[in-house]
Amino acid sequence: MTQSRRDFLSLTAKAAVLAAGAGLGLPALLHAATPSEFGSTPLPVPGASGLFGLLAPEGRLTLTAAEAPGALPATGAPMLAYRASHKGADYLNPILVLRKGQDFEATLANGLNEPTIIHWHGVDGPWRQAGHPSYAIGPGGSYKYGFPITNRAGTYWYHPHPHALTAKQSYMGLASFFIVRDSEEDAFAKDLDLRLGVTDIPLVIQDKRLTHDGRLDYSPSKDDLLMGYLGDTVLANGQHKPTLKAATRLYRFRLLNGSTARIYNLSFVQGGSRLPLLLVGNDGGFLPAPQRLDGLFLAPGERADVLLDLRDLSPGQEVFLQNMPFDPMHNEGGMMGMTGMGHGAAPAASAEGHGGSHGALGEGDAYAILRLLVEQQVAYDRSLPKSLPSIPEPPAGGTERPITLALQHMGGWTINGLTFDMGSAPIVVKKRGVEVWRISNAKESMPHPMHLHGYFYRVLERKGSPAQAKSRAVDTQGRMATDLGYKDTVLVWPGETVSVAIDFGTPRYPGEQLFLFHCHNLEHEDQGMMLNVKVV
Ligand code: C2O
Ligand code: CU
Ligand code: CU
Repeated sequence: MTQSRRDFLSLTAKAAVLAAGAGLGLPALLHAATPSEFGSTPLPVPGASGLFGLLAPEGRLTLTAAEAPGALPATGAPMLAYRASHKGADYLNPILVLRKGQDFEATLANGLNEPTIIHWHGVDGPWRQAGHPSYAIGPGGSYKYGFPITNRAGTYWYHPHPHALTAKQSYMGLASFFIVRDSEEDAFAKDLDLRLGVTDIPLVIQDKRLTHDGRLDYSPSKDDLLMGYLGDTVLANGQHKPTLKAATRLYRFRLLNGSTARIYNLSFVQGGSRLPLLLVGNDGGFLPAPQRLDGLFLAPGERADVLLDLRDLSPGQEVFLQNMPFDPMHNEGGMMGMTGMGHGAAPAASAEGHGGSHGALGEGDAYAILRLLVEQQVAYDRSLPKSLPSIPEPPAGGTERPITLALQHMGGWTINGLTFDMGSAPIVVKKRGVEVWRISNAKESMPHPMHLHGYFYRVLERKGSPAQAKSRAVDTQGRMATDLGYKDTVLVWPGETVSVAIDFGTPRYPGEQLFLFHCHNLEHEDQGMMLNVKVV
């Protein structure tokens, strides 16, 4: 770096601190983003091999779940990963790139010392292909998947789903993207001159606790199992506070919350203000129309596909992907006779750690996750998309099904008062018509990201939303921009009712199907906040 560049950077830093003091009300935020905390560690971006390498499978692919020594980018510690070899290249947690219509054939080989199974999250397929925990295979075993890709283009993902072990295995590293492309995606990427891994960046955000020697520590206490295991170090593509060198052009980020429990309130911040984002897609591909916003909530399991325009920036300037302060709404305290100490608490109350572990990073704290450093001036002449491939309106009407989320007295989280039982299916739906699920979260509760396998939701309405969600409503039904389009995971805040329409009518898979409906707070899922859904 040249002397003048260094001076320029430190000036920018000072300007940022000054701006923070100038009454923007975000001092902690900018403190969290001082460049000194960001070294020159590069963001791991998907390449042609290695960790998160891009892999477009031809023929049957074997994914071996196993320990990967030295693989964790942040510390060089071991992690768990899906190993694959394809056309002479070796991968860990490959980002699978599929085309709609293609046959996907994969074999999971279990190289762990405990059961596992892969779930293709958001990817359509009959239930035997979807990683139901009853299909978990033991150490040394294998499971063959084979099904046609029928999803529209979108950012899906894959992770383990063995019962009671999903959180730990995902946390230890087993997770990656499953990207589907089609002709609409081709046209979009061409119009905007986007290239996967270069200007179209899959970005998985995960929080971890690390031991003093940098190893991943998954040792939830009883409280952690109840509330979710929060880490104190937030990683982007496995790296802590990385930098992506950028040019003055448009970027696409496929954001995935791959954390077990932590919810993020994400914004891209430059010099004290939030940059506008164009949300173009979420869990199930493109939205019906692009949505301009300056921040979004991303709960475990959810994806957001955003465009960020860096054309107005100059070389030397920095943009930070930040978690913005919010109320994590851990309102379960009263019910449990607890004080709500520390865990995920709002910024003002989160100074102390919990469970005697490392200093906790509250969910509602301000902190930076990733730095974009503008280095290169380029000419970019494409215009932002005004429209997106059209999708049908959410279906009107349908059979109503009330769903309640609550804490059992002195027990765990329940759905309709029940916890998971492998052998029973408390929700039975007919392969006929539409159901409207009214998912109500108790007041004395915490946020639950509710996920359904096999089908997508269309969010119809949010009622009783807390101010931080209500203020982001884009219509009179209280929906946020991130609710539009197809969703497979919806965050339900305490006291809120989210109504979703699910079309069980379109014939999809022959025969009876057994899918799952569960909280994607993976500690909650493992503790039984999950029900079988039988489709008959
Ligand atoms: Cu992403 Cu059933 O999970
Ligand atoms: Cu899923
Ligand atoms: Cu939950």
